Amino acid sequence: MSKSTTGPAIETSGLVKTFGETRAVDGIDLVVPAGSVYGVLGPNGAGKTTAVKLLATLLRPDGGEARVFGHDVLREADAVRSRVSLTGQYASVDEDLTGTENLVLLGRLLGHRKPAARERAAQLLEAFGLTDAASRQVKNYSGGMRRRIDIAASILNTPDLLFLDEPTTGLDPRSRNQVWDIVRAVVAQGTTVLLTTQYLDEADQLASRIAVIDHGKVIAEGTKGELKASVGAGAIHLRLRDAAQRPEAEKVLLRTLDAQVQTDPDPVALTARIGAGTVAGAWAADRTETAAADLGAADQAARALSELTAAGITVDSFSLGQPSLDEVFLALTDHPATVKEEASA
Ligand SMILES: Nc1ncnc2c1ncn2[C@@H]1O[C@H](COP(=O)(O)OP(=O)(O)OP(=O)(O)O)[C@@H](O)[C@H]1O
Ligand SMILES: [Mg+2]
Repeated sequence: MSKSTTGPAIETSGLVKTFGETRAVDGIDLVVPAGSVYGVLGPNGAGKTTAVKLLATLLRPDGGEARVFGHDVLREADAVRSRVSLTGQYASVDEDLTGTENLVLLGRLLGHRKPAARERAAQLLEAFGLTDAASRQVKNYSGGMRRRIDIAASILNTPDLLFLDEPTTGLDPRSRNQVWDIVRAVVAQGTTVLLTTQYLDEADQLASRIAVIDHGKVIAEGTKGELKASVGAGAIHLRLRDAAQRPEAEKVLLRTLDAQVQTDPDPVALTARIGAGTVAGAWAADRTETAAADLGAADQAARALSELTAAGITVDSFSLGQPSLDEVFLALTDHPATVKEEASA
């Protein structure tokens, strides 16, 4: 958990930013708990970067309010700045300097004495797998290395809140995984991370909670489980020891779950689709009640298994599947989240 706060890392209400006719951020209400990764998921032009810039005090809101660790982004911008760090398209590393030179320079700018700056630079280069590239100019780095040095530069002083604006866009799978590991390590040190992404699997991998934004508005918010539950339902897949027990198993499932039960062509297999209705309402209506909703699918699965056992039915294997975030996005907007080739400003 974050070492220096008990309240949320970020709280916004009715936050607005317009550019001429464009309402880039159009009344966003968010509560980002401290100590975890919060995902802001949205397609090109959704308003992600604009929202991050408002929160990092790089832009002034036109309406609404935002607080970072309780500090108002307008009235207490300095206090906000002292707690946050930003990695994005606006990275601070100098292309002509080497990895080490960049980190040492930035460390010096942050007020560290030279030996301390050198030590921290070496430590971060090592942690980010850049030791071999430490004495090469950053302009010769690959995209993945570049992204890693950007993040390293932004955590020279461990920030309380780190904004990562699309940290893995354009990276190959291996580099993405490296960045993900770094994000996890940063959070483990107590930093809250607000991560924007166009990648559903990235939000799924890293974020505890996710806000889906589209056209400057939050169209859904909750834990991954809640988001998924709001759209489709989970599915329990079962394989029985004995095909003869399947009709009985069906009855048990129908009785214990708010579920549609399907028998598979395979005579020992059956699938129960858990009703979305039981868990969907809670997160949208009241984000304080979400923990219970998140347990929905797993709880129901556990109950089903124990009822089956009690009825003398032997279950050989069992799995719980959830709808993908892609399905979630498609259901929430009218377009898939993966359409991201169109130009954006
Ligand atoms: N400085 C600006 N001047 C005018 N319009 C802007 C400016 N910055 C952003 N916009 C517009 O605001 C909207 C939101 O843009 P923003 O960059 O916040 O989206 P994004 O979600 O970060 O997109 P991407 O995934 O492409 O980075 C877009 O319509 C964009 O064209
Ligand atoms: Mg952006």
